[in-house]
Amino acid sequence: MTVEKLFDLLWKQYISIAPEAKEIHDLFRSKQNNEIINDHIALRTLNFERCNISVLAKNFLDLGYEMKENYDFKSKKLNAYHFTHKNHNYAKVFISELKVNEFDEKIQVFFKNLVKNIPDSILNSNSLVASGRHWEISYKKYNELYEVSEYAAWFYVYGFRANHFTVNINDLENFTDIEDVNTFIKSNSYELNTSGGEIKGNPKVCLEQSSTLAQETQIEFKEGKYNIPSCFYEFAKRYKDNTNKLYDGFVAASADKIFESTNKR
Ligand code: NI
Repeated sequence: MTVEKLFDLLWKQYISIAPEAKEIHDLFRSKQNNEIINDHIALRTLNFERCNISVLAKNFLDLGYEMKENYDFKSKKLNAYHFTHKNHNYAKVFISELKVNEFDEKIQVFFKNLVKNIPDSILNSNSLVASGRHWEISYKKYNELYEVSEYAAWFYVYGFRANHFTVNINDLENFTDIEDVNTFIKSNSYELNTSGGEIKGNPKVCLEQSSTLAQETQIEFKEGKYNIPSCFYEFAKRYKDNTNKLYDGFVAASADKIFESTNKR
């Protein structure tokens, strides 16, 4: 496995349920000569020893990534780390995990049994992060989980895959401001996540982010086919920090709002 191959796998899996991301990618691509650079991708998991952040991280650490900062999202009951690579053209990786132990006993038991379905061969593979879901899904259960945690419901349906890719605005050839990116997205009839305002963060915190609202995708549940939110596309602009280096971390208050891009509309 190489970084390029792993990201290619994740991208193909992502646009298979979020074709809007590919459309937007192609719109940016048509405006410039070079490839679009990703700022980061994000992955979701559960905090069981079997499949927690450390387990998913292995796929990236083996390819030269390093673990960086830790983030805590108390109200959403999430913990996260970000990972970076020496090659700055390689996207940063943001992996979060649901603190299942903070939910009631019934949910804990449900997820504990669910993750037993992940074959050991997959858990130990170099493409676990793009392996999807390893269990049957019920629409009733999805809605029950959604009431308690959008994140729990999303993971239940989609499993291991990129939750979003993020365009690095700094590397776009014809856009400088995030405002212009947002205008471009909206003028092409895509909807932005307005939770916490269209732009999360500011130059003072060295990071500005915006994202589309996850598009609805038809998913086959045991009860039949239903449309539910899938994945979204994000845009990030970074500023130099007080050491005069481009900031490469994440702002928890902004990430907290970005998570809501997969909420039901
Ligand atoms: Ni993100």
